[in-house]
Amino acid sequence: MSFYVTTPIYYVNAAPHLGHAYTTIAADVLARHHRQRGEEVFFLTGTDEHGEPVADAAHALGVEPQELADRNAERFRALAPELGASNDFFIRTTDAEHEAKVQEVLARVRDNGYVYEGTYEGWYCPRCADFKAENEIDEGNRCPIHHIELTREQEENYFFALSAFQERLEQLYAERGDFVAPRARFNEALSFIRSGLRDVPLTRHNLTWGVTVPWDHEHVFYVWFDALLNYYSALSYAPMPAGFAASGEDLVERLWPASYHLIAKDILRFHTVYWPALLMAAEIELPERVFVHGYLLMDGEKMSKSLGNVLDPFAVIERFGADALRFYLLREVPFGRDGSVSTTSFELRYETELANELGNLASRTLGMLGRYRGGVAPEAELDTELAEEFAGLRARVEGLLDAAELTAALDEIWQRVKRMNRYVEERAPWQLAKDDDRAGELDSVLASLLEGLRVVGVLLWPYMPASCEKLLAALGAASGSLAAGELGAARVGAVGTLEPLFPKEPA
Ligand code: MSP
Repeated sequence: MSFYVTTPIYYVNAAPHLGHAYTTIAADVLARHHRQRGEEVFFLTGTDEHGEPVADAAHALGVEPQELADRNAERFRALAPELGASNDFFIRTTDAEHEAKVQEVLARVRDNGYVYEGTYEGWYCPRCADFKAENEIDEGNRCPIHHIELTREQEENYFFALSAFQERLEQLYAERGDFVAPRARFNEALSFIRSGLRDVPLTRHNLTWGVTVPWDHEHVFYVWFDALLNYYSALSYAPMPAGFAASGEDLVERLWPASYHLIAKDILRFHTVYWPALLMAAEIELPERVFVHGYLLMDGEKMSKSLGNVLDPFAVIERFGADALRFYLLREVPFGRDGSVSTTSFELRYETELANELGNLASRTLGMLGRYRGGVAPEAELDTELAEEFAGLRARVEGLLDAAELTAALDEIWQRVKRMNRYVEERAPWQLAKDDDRAGELDSVLASLLEGLRVVGVLLWPYMPASCEKLLAALGAASGSLAAGELGAARVGAVGTLEPLFPKEPA
């Protein structure tokens, strides 16, 4: 089995912000979960470096586009490990291998008869690098996303015959109800297709910052076609991950088609309409699914560099650690919907859920084991009540993560954390410890809590890898296999020490 997950490649016109971190974190959770299933996983992220957004930003700063790209690509590359992201490769669209692949695939699209010369005239947003249809324009000829005035563009272009794929795209949506999720986004894509597809420019004449069109050196490819192809081109030159079993196949053969493209709704049309059409034109298999998450909002507006309302992920991580940020984003904002984030709600969740509910549960449990049983886990039978609470949990989490329901899966696990907190209060081990006749009961309570913590550590590991590794190490357990995510699957033995997982007064 293989699992190939991607994030959008981010524009290097500015530094990374929390919105970019969000998608990278989400993709990382899926990648880690699938590694726990024992699958061959490939997780790709990277940077989109061509086109007008980058060229314009560079000119405004008085530097060459390549210089700005180099500077900001490094920031995005550095963000991934800071977030705890385990990406297997980092693609830059200025990589020579990517550029060559773009030329090869798009020349094939032309050979297949889907490219022709024409004149484009219409409204264009240089920040989106996108041509706007009349019904997508805000009052005053403004971009609905960036609120800037659109420019009127007229140029000689090569066109991609998108309209030729109208029927095949409708058929794709009829046959594959899970091609796009959530359902509302599927419907949005389908209604865009049904409204009638028009051909789109494939090249730009007046721009030089891009991949040269091999059959006409006066043109570069329109940045979106160059960018989308990253998902495919990366596999032709990324190194084989260390854990992959030996086989004669290269990465394209092993991993294509992609299992999941994660994106936000701003780039829905490119991924759910243009991308499948382009692949059909190039005779390449289509990806399995596109999951469209919502926007992180601050003060009710989409957080974005151009709007200037950003929360700095580096600062949050420095104080609270990457795990806390990962947990907060996926818990606070239901994955697939828009949601507001703020430092106030972050601090609240950190304190009540991470420090109190999980951190305290772990330190209390280990503390009681130390006090009452010398740090050695009793071999007692597990409490049936708690066992029932955990029954079927792993399978439910797997099912939800198959559908990229990251928040729902996290909640399933967290309900058990809350349940264990209540269990401690109900069973009051400190009372049981006073009564020698109830030693067996105390054994069972402690053994059950340790097992519950171990299972939670395994299942939460994709969300909070560093903290779960600390917890599991203290329990003498491992995070590697999802099969261990069942109560009783790998009983805890002797227990080590555990520093507070989420200190109340972080640095
Ligand atoms: N370069 C294109 C994507 C090409 S993919 C072949 C692009 N880049 S971007 O830098 O603007 O990144 C957009 C993506 O960043 C969104 O689709 C989403 O994944 C993430 N986000 C950026 N801001 C965000 C929020 N405020 N909220 C949620 N996700 C956000 O578009």
